[in-house]
Amino acid sequence: MDMLLKITEPEYILMKTYIEEHCGIHLEKDKEYLIESRLHDLLTETGCRSFQEFHFKARTDRTGELRDRIVDAMTTNETSWFRDKNAWEYLKEMAVTMLLNQVLEIGKANVWSAAVSTGQEAYSLIMLLDEAAKERGLPSLSEKVEIFATDISSSALAVAASARYDSIAMNRGLPDDKKEKYFTKEDNSWLFDQELKKRVRFKKFNLQNSFVFPDKFDMILCRYVTIYFSDTFKREVFKKMSDMLRPGGILLLGATESLREFSDDFEISYYRSVVVNTKK
Ligand SMILES: C[S@@+](CC[C@H](N)C(=O)[O-])C[C@H]1O[C@@H](n2cnc3c(N)ncnc32)[C@H](O)[C@@H]1O
Repeated sequence: MDMLLKITEPEYILMKTYIEEHCGIHLEKDKEYLIESRLHDLLTETGCRSFQEFHFKARTDRTGELRDRIVDAMTTNETSWFRDKNAWEYLKEMAVTMLLNQVLEIGKANVWSAAVSTGQEAYSLIMLLDEAAKERGLPSLSEKVEIFATDISSSALAVAASARYDSIAMNRGLPDDKKEKYFTKEDNSWLFDQELKKRVRFKKFNLQNSFVFPDKFDMILCRYVTIYFSDTFKREVFKKMSDMLRPGGILLLGATESLREFSDDFEISYYRSVVVNTKK
């Protein structure tokens, strides 16, 4: 890689403000290196000789293409299958049962994976639902659980929608029996079950937008994304999520995230060490 172009302090403020405005990612002090390294290639590609010039180009780009690429470069798309053993035990032992019971009672259930990244979160849930429905002897039950999966990053969503993973991604948390059962090997990659894949509806969506969806959700997975947001934006996101959950619905965050200081709309309880936020 060529030498990284240094960002000056005023340029850092310009870029940091731009990034927060367009995706809510709040950069603390001393994150200059993050901008310098993650935007290096784009800077070179656009021919800009300073971050000030780059910032101007981004602000005046009417197509939105440069903005999307900046957001894409600044988001951390780190994920894995069944990320956090404890959370997925809760999902398997409690949430999946709740969702299938909901299908039996009212005919369908709705889940939203609100920062799905490259798809592992949504497909992990589908595998659990499929297994649980088959165990009950009612395989078609899981078909009635609709999974809506969104992310702001176009490149992450493209991987999610392709449902195709390389061996590095496959080796991160996926048990062998599930690999056997739900994936087909094609050349150097593995393809997730194409029928099950159809149950997830992927859409590019920025959590800064208004949440206008036709149905309320029974569960929202919003995992390892609010850690990047300011307190004000966290409060806003939890409020909008609360409005989109039915009473009794669940909001599951990442293990290092909490809504305690930011929302009074949830009953907080524990399933072993997992924090479960239930809409009042
Ligand atoms: C670290 S990943 C978490 C993926 C998955 N939920 C998990 O727990 O493994 C965070 C994701 O949040 C997305 N993200 C960041 N800011 C966002 C925003 N404003 N709206 C929607 N998604 C956002 C990123 O693109 C990234 O894919």
